[in-house]
Amino acid sequence: MRRFRLLDLRLFLCTTLCVLHIAGAISIHSPQRSLTRSVQEDVLFSVHFTCRGAPTVQWTFMSGAVSRSIGAWRPGAAANITLDYRERVRPYANGSMGLSDLRLQDAGFYVVSITEATGNSRDSGFVLKVNEVIYEDLQYLSVSGAVLACLAGLLMLSMWLLDRAYRRILACRRRRPAPENGETELQPL
Ligand SMILES: *[C@@H]1O[C@H](CO)[C@@H](O)[C@H](O)[C@H]1NC(C)=O
Ligand SMILES: *[C@@H]1O[C@H](CO)[C@@H](O)[C@H](O)[C@H]1NC(C)=O
Repeated sequence: MRRFRLLDLRLFLCTTLCVLHIAGAISIHSPQRSLTRSVQEDVLFSVHFTCRGAPTVQWTFMSGAVSRSIGAWRPGAAANITLDYRERVRPYANGSMGLSDLRLQDAGFYVVSITEATGNSRDSGFVLKVNEVIYEDLQYLSVSGAVLACLAGLLMLSMWLLDRAYRRILACRRRRPAPENGETELQPL
């Protein structure tokens, strides 16, 4: 009977510890981990986390051999954003990070680390793909094409007008040959 109670107590302690451990574990939830955007667009790395106490949120960028710290903040406190990213990064209290005016070099792997005051830490990763904007080139091409077509039209019109004026002058000259002859005859005298 006594033995049984001890076993019961151990079981109880174990489950309590397990539950406490799960409750204390940091969990990071994000609706989308793979994102695709175009150059100059904005992106929101959306996360939501649960943990004990006030944690530190840290974002890091990785691409190939490059690993760069983007910034760190505590929800509700001022964020410490790296100089390179200060203009483009927006920190959120729920751990999310907004990155605006995307460049091709922004493509890569983004890691968010949530660290509790006790040192407990958990990471979550995102993949960002950045596409080149092709339609801008096309727009430029079509605009310059339209300008060229306009210029060509104007040129053709002015040539046609010049041609008409020239023919008219010729016709005028042919219509009154007599006075011209008279003048030329008179001049040498
Ligand atoms: C985090 O907060 C931002 C800004 O309030 C919101 O747009 C985003 O949806 C939130 N993310 C999650 C996963 O709740
Ligand atoms: C901001 O971060 C940099 C590098 O991570 C660190 O050297 C600096 O001390 C931090 N500044 C503040 C005010 O936390």
